[in-house]
Amino acid sequence: EKGNYRHYMLKEIYEQPTVVAQTLQSYIHQAENRMALPQIDFDLSAIRRVTIVACGTSYYAGMVAKYWFEAFARVPVDIDFASEFRYRDPVLEEGGLALFISQSGETADTLAALRYCKAAGQTVAVVVNVPTSSMAREADLLLPTHAGPEIGVASTKAFTCQLAVLAALAAHLAVKKGRMDRNEEHEVVRHLLEAPAALNAALDHDDDIAAMAHLVAPARDVLYLGRGPDFPLALEGALKLKEISYIHAEGYASGEMKHGPIALIDEAVPVIVLAPSGPLFEKTVSNMQEVRARGGKIVLISDEEGLAEAGEGCLATIAMPRVHPLIAPLVYAVPVQLLAYHVACVKGTDVDQPRNLAKSVTVE
Ligand code: F6R
Repeated sequence: EKGNYRHYMLKEIYEQPTVVAQTLQSYIHQAENRMALPQIDFDLSAIRRVTIVACGTSYYAGMVAKYWFEAFARVPVDIDFASEFRYRDPVLEEGGLALFISQSGETADTLAALRYCKAAGQTVAVVVNVPTSSMAREADLLLPTHAGPEIGVASTKAFTCQLAVLAALAAHLAVKKGRMDRNEEHEVVRHLLEAPAALNAALDHDDDIAAMAHLVAPARDVLYLGRGPDFPLALEGALKLKEISYIHAEGYASGEMKHGPIALIDEAVPVIVLAPSGPLFEKTVSNMQEVRARGGKIVLISDEEGLAEAGEGCLATIAMPRVHPLIAPLVYAVPVQLLAYHVACVKGTDVDQPRNLAKSVTVE
């Protein structure tokens, strides 16, 4: 039930600190400060390549995971939309892990891609939210998210739980491959366990986001920018806004702006910039200045340090807690979800049942 919440989507956004904590609990051995994956009967250290396949929001979780697999485990990663992967004759080498990410575990294209990889001799792992789903049944390695039933058509809590599982999997693989020592593993555990409190701190800014939603609601087009592991969050933010507010939105890697999309910039196109403090902050800020120099209106989402440095002259700013870069993609999911939600409320659309969309896409 929705309880005191106006919509399931809002309720599910607010459940994230709890369900991410629940999910992490089953992938972390707290007493030992170590990663703990479900028992499996094959040797993860033998994995030489990871192929990630998914659709929509689950695909964006996979995009974030690619950064983690490469950085932690030094394993090459391919990622593709299921609908492309299954028809393009992909090259699958021996020793590959095929990783499927799906809230429902029933998405037709993702399931077909899974069967293709299984037939091709890949080890099949799935990150799914429905433990009784087809994908869960057919996998060699089942990695459940513990988000609980997701009712809102736009995926929210399943996404952050997917990220939690994928971060744990990437770290676990790194440990197995001898790429991560005990101290580094402890650090990763520590940062992951900080995520629930950071998600709560992000939710504390709900009222600020609600108060500025009217600035975005009249727009016909909105751009989202992010870099590195936060680039997929820009794509996710744009998808959420499209889905529930019906405003056209695009996500771009910040550095790609000047290669074309900057031609779209004028005062009628809000640009939402996701820029947590960290190694990539300065780069994103310089892309932001390029937008501003062309009359672009910026909504900057950053932490206190970031806003102090670059918040001046923005159309609006959204404050986030300062977090380790590892958990920034989880934490920055909250403001993009809430922004889409509040813009949709201003526009009066049907948030939980947006037009033309179904919760589970079981047709090709
Ligand atoms: C977006 C959304 C969809 C799904 C996609 C995949 O809010 O919900 O983009 O992420 O249809 O669905 P699953 O994860 O069930 O395979």
